[in-house]
Amino acid sequence: MAKVHNFSAGPGILPQEVLKQASEAVLNFDNLDLSLLEISHRSASFERVMAEARALVLELMGLSANEYEVLFLQGGASTQFYMVPLNLLPQNGTAAYVNTGEWARRAIKEAKLVGNTKVLASSEEENFTYIPKEYDIPADIDYLHITSNNTIFGTQYHTFPETTATLVCDMSSDIFSRRMDFSRFGLIYAGAQKNMGPAGTTLVVVRKDLLGKTGRTLPTMLDYQVHIKGGSMYNTPPVFAIYVSYLTLLWLKNNGGLEHMEKVNREKQETFYAEVDSNPMFKGTANPEDRSWMNATFVLTQPALDEQFAAMIKEANISQLKGHRSVGGYRASMYNALPLESVKVLTSVMKEFAVKFG
Ligand SMILES: Cc1ncc(COP(=O)(O)O)c(C=O)c1O
Repeated sequence: MAKVHNFSAGPGILPQEVLKQASEAVLNFDNLDLSLLEISHRSASFERVMAEARALVLELMGLSANEYEVLFLQGGASTQFYMVPLNLLPQNGTAAYVNTGEWARRAIKEAKLVGNTKVLASSEEENFTYIPKEYDIPADIDYLHITSNNTIFGTQYHTFPETTATLVCDMSSDIFSRRMDFSRFGLIYAGAQKNMGPAGTTLVVVRKDLLGKTGRTLPTMLDYQVHIKGGSMYNTPPVFAIYVSYLTLLWLKNNGGLEHMEKVNREKQETFYAEVDSNPMFKGTANPEDRSWMNATFVLTQPALDEQFAAMIKEANISQLKGHRSVGGYRASMYNALPLESVKVLTSVMKEFAVKFG
């Protein structure tokens, strides 16, 4: 079969070698002659995976285990929308949010259920095509929540807000895609299923000194401190999702870490946007300075040619290029494991489309 170029927005493409190792572990994990799926999560072999995965996260982020805890939880990033305010927002405190799209909107909705929530800025009036930059950040907030990459609308923070307030970030769709000063964040969370692994586990990295200060009694499963104490094994963890995340983290480390990833991702997005900007048949939908490196959203300048473009994409084995159902158009998701070659196949189809129909 010809190679499929996988531009899925999530669950997204994973490295081939990770998929191969993961499939082997389903049959025979760690030479135990048992499947990863049929052994205790408290076995020495899995305990080692969990410990190494947590250490790799800190290593890739350049953070210290003295200051930060790494958790692999369940419930998706969507559960973090609620867990974050439950754990970080004191009864009489204020949580601040920036509304940059559907995921931020959902995070705000959950925070409002917990306590006082202020939306400091929003790009909703422009259909979330940009990242707001000019707004005041009050001194007395308990945290500022942002969404580093807006998977649906194709925008991304390229610089983070300057503030002394605790920064909380939903990095679900650009985690480990570039270098950054991770120590600027008090809490980072990310569903695994875009840049880190399969669906089923959510990474949380939290600064320990922020916890236990709300005065609130928390349901057990929603309390970060319970999961910290249990080493992310208070209850049965999603072993397969964590194992594949571990393999992907190892792949990242062994392939030049975030510095190399950033270089490759930079080249991919430059290749793609250069084509969008020079090809009269296409138009990018996000404000150029806020364009996402991970999810490039675009439309045809002649929507009547949609069927013809779709046929050419299909012919080139390009998969899952459709925009999110709420916005339409197209979206090229270029997560870490997507090779530059796939982007080049896409841009050559775009060129050919212009020659044929322009
Ligand atoms: C930025 C962002 N946050 C949150 C979510 C929701 O994640 P989950 O499906 O793991 O709850 C998504 C899913 O696509 C996302 O892209």
